[in-house]
Order: sequence, then C-alpha cells, then structure tokens
Amino acid sequence: MPVNERNTSLLDRRAQWLEHYQPRLHVQERGSVVSVGDGITWISGLPSAAMEDVLLFEEGSRAMVFDLNKDRVGAILLYESPDLTAGTAVRLARHRLGIAAGDVFLGRVVDPLGNPLDDRPRPVSQSRQSLEAPSPPIVAREFVHQPLYTGIKIIDTLVPIGKGQCQLIIGDEGLGRSSIAIDAVVNQRGKDVCCVYVLIGQKRSAVINTIATLRQQGALEYTVIVVAEASALPGLQYLAPFAGCALAEYWMAQGRDTLIVYDDLATHARTYRELSLLLRRPPGREAYPGDIFFVHSRLLERSTCLNADHGGGSMTALPIVETQQGEIAAYIPTNLISITDGQLYLDKGLFVSGFRPAIDIARSVSRIGGKAQHPNIRAEAGTMKMDYLQFLELEVFSRFGQRLEASMEARIRRGRIIREILKQERLSSLSAEFQYAWLLAFNEDLFQDDAPDAVTGLLALLQKKVPGTHLTLDSGRQLWLQAIKGWLEDERGG
Ligand SMILES: Nc1ncnc2c1ncn2[C@@H]1O[C@H](COP(=O)(O)OP(=O)(O)OP(=O)(O)O)[C@@H](O)[C@H]1O
Ligand SMILES: [Mg+2]
Repeated sequence: MPVNERNTSLLDRRAQWLEHYQPRLHVQERGSVVSVGDGITWISGLPSAAMEDVLLFEEGSRAMVFDLNKDRVGAILLYESPDLTAGTAVRLARHRLGIAAGDVFLGRVVDPLGNPLDDRPRPVSQSRQSLEAPSPPIVAREFVHQPLYTGIKIIDTLVPIGKGQCQLIIGDEGLGRSSIAIDAVVNQRGKDVCCVYVLIGQKRSAVINTIATLRQQGALEYTVIVVAEASALPGLQYLAPFAGCALAEYWMAQGRDTLIVYDDLATHARTYRELSLLLRRPPGREAYPGDIFFVHSRLLERSTCLNADHGGGSMTALPIVETQQGEIAAYIPTNLISITDGQLYLDKGLFVSGFRPAIDIARSVSRIGGKAQHPNIRAEAGTMKMDYLQFLELEVFSRFGQRLEASMEARIRRGRIIREILKQERLSSLSAEFQYAWLLAFNEDLFQDDAPDAVTGLLALLQKKVPGTHLTLDSGRQLWLQAIKGWLEDERGG
C-alpha cells in the first residue's frame, strides 16, 4: 500500500475510535505504608486486598499480603529498598507469586523468586509455576512402586525410599542430616532425576559448602539450589520451600522423576512463627501459630507419584528437621513425623561411637518404601534386619559380663559384622547390585571374621568385582552366589 493511503486509513480508524470512545472510570486502590520493620509492613487503604496478593511499592519494594485486618493489611517483604518508609504509596499487582521453571534452572543457584545468586544471567523461561498450588488429587496418584536409591547401605537395604515418597530426616544438630540428603542427590547422577535442594535460613558457610560439594561431585548439572540464607528477609525464607516445590512440580508434570530436599523445616517453622508473631497472630503451642501443621502438610502433600494418565512423574521429598537433645516428641518434629511416610532418625550416641551414618534402625521406619524395593533385595534385607535387631537386644545383656551360650555368641558375632558393614563414609555412593551382593554374602555367612579389617576387605573385593559382572538384580540368587564364591576363591588362591 502506498504511504499516503496507509496514513489516511490510519487517520480514519483513529477518527472512528474517537467517535465511539466512551470515558470509563478506572479505579485503582492506593494504599499507604503505616509502618515497616523486621521484614514485615502494615499498610492502610487497600480494602480489596486478598491473602497472598503481591503488593508493589512506589519506590520499588515488593511484598506479599500475609494478614488481613479490618482497617489494615499485614504483608511480608520480598524485596526491601532502602527508601521504604511510612507513607510510601502501595498498589495491588493483581497476581499471585510465581516462579519461572524449566531446564534452564538446572545447574543454577537462585533465590525463592527465581533471581540468580550465582553471578550468571537470570534464567529465562516461558513456563511459570505458582508457588502455592493444590496437591495432586487422589485419582491422579499412583502407589509408590519404584525405588529411589540413595547409594547409602543402611538406607537402601533397611529403610528403603521409593519414588514419590516423603521421608523425614530427623536428628540433633551436626549428626549428618544434610550429608545424607547430599549423598542422595549425588547418587542420582545419570539416573534422569531432576533434583532441587532448598536451603532455608542457613549460615553462608553452610550454603557455600553445600554448593561446592554438589559441584565437585558433578551433581549440579541436574540440580537447582534454592537459597534463602539466614540473613535474607524472613519472607523469602518462608517462601523458599514453596519455590523449590514449584520448580520440582514443573518437571513432575512433564512426567519426569524429581527429588527435593528441604534443609531444614525446623528453621522454616521458626521463621513462620517469627512472621506470625510480628503480625500479631495468636500464638499456640510453643508459640507457633495454629496453622503451622497446615503449612507443612500442604507443602509435603505436593510430593507424590503420578499415575500414567497424568504423565507418570514423581516428586520424592526429603524434609530435614532438627531436634533438641533428641526430643522427637516436640511440636514440629511430631507434626512432621505424622505428615511424612517414614523417618530416618539420627542418634547422637551412634554418631559419637563412630557408627556413621548414625541412623538408629530401631527408631527409623519407611512406611511405603519396602513395597518399591526390588523383591530380591527385600528378601535378603528382611533376614539381615531380624539378625541385627536381635543382636542389638543381646548386646545389652552381654555387657553384664555373663557367660553366653555358643549360639548367642555366634549371633553377637554376626551382629558385629553387620554393624561394621553398615558404616559408610559420606560421598561414597554404592550401586544397588553391590548392595545385593553384600547382603547375600552376609546372609550366607561369607564374612567370617568380625574384625573391621576383614569386613572392609570383603566389601572392597565386592566393590571391585561387582561393576564388571554381567549379573543384574534379576539374575537370581544362585548365579550371584556362585560368582561371589568364585571371586573369593580367586582372591584367596591368588
Ligand atoms: N557418613 C559419615 N561419615 C563420616 N562423617 C560424617 C558422615 N556423615 C556426616 N559426617 C560428618 O558429620 C558432620 C556433620 O554433618 P552434617 O553437616 O551433614 O550434619 P547436619 O546434621 O546437617 O548438621 P547441621 O546441624 O550443621 O545442619 C560433618 O563434619 C560431616 O563430615
Ligand atoms: Mg545440615
């Protein structure tokens, strides 16, 4: 079209538009900050604000509505500019909080709003996930049926975890809770599981260590780390697990397997308590707000195993919680125990005595993982577990120095062997085939001596030989046993 004609048609259209134009009233609420401090703010003049609405402040700050009063709104700050003071104008953004999601996040360290913390450009993605989302309905769920190997002997054999399970890691400070979670993430290398590691309210040194470990182990390629460290705004610390969950949900909806670690939810509960008390909500037990159970249950219920009609993805969750003096009956630990599908209990006595990972078998349970365990491993582990639990009881008696029958002595000797076997350094992942091999060797009494050297000797032999064998978990007991005996003869003969 020639330029002149195009200009006239444009003018015509504008004239038409002006002819039909009707002025309309566009109402926008304009609130104003009443007070601000400690990561929260009170705002007046926003009568239509709803819970979880995002608020935009004139000078650039952002917040999320967290409490509604008759005449004012309480909000948690998500970004606080230095210029934020009483009197600043506020408007509603008319949307809820979300985070971009997708494979661009793999290998990245981000804050709960998806902003990069690793000096690289912001990860950009068309897909967005809402931080708060309903958990999948029952009809979309499948029974947990596939194992998720952590590479840790004591877990994969005695307290196995299945894909889609929510397994709590509970124990006092410094007993190796994070190490177990990191090991589980590291063991997913090459297994097509996307991992999310959420660090809530941790010291910067702990954050740096976790990132460095995952990077060194080559685990960052398939992992995204969501960080709200101790110095971050409490609002961000509160949102961190929801952001991590939203990222994992994206992959789960695509039919992929995911693993998410919440490190840790005791700190998260304390942050929520702090925010609630600042916003003058009525305190309940241990001064936690009454809905803390709901906060954690709606978070953890989002991890599940979807059925084939819904893509067949899964989200396995490893929430971590800290106890004080081993007190698992405190409010937050009992809440979490009742929400999750089992727990790994770490014991101080075991840790000090050198039994690491310090998982106390008598107090740890996996309510659904056993069904997902490979039937051959389950059969062998069942026998071993009975031996071990009997040994723990017998050992108490043997401490009194009584003379024991020969059969008892033999049981104690076998128990000591298991205890030696179950010790494992961190970051030393072991394959499922290896786990089967040592279980078989133990059940067939091939570990003849309970001296630590003898036990580690045979384990080292298995570790050397198992990767080279063509046998799989389905190969059958006899073939495996023949192979193991063959290796032993070669070793002893040579
Ligand atoms: N299997 C293991 N073998 C030897 N040492 C271990 C093992 N697991 C953990 N540790 C050591 O125990 C210490 C505490 O581990 P970790 O930081 O994982 O514990 P935590 O419970 O997460 O502690 P925090 O309370 O600081 O979060 C670390 O020094 C770690 O090296
Ligand atoms: Mg830790």
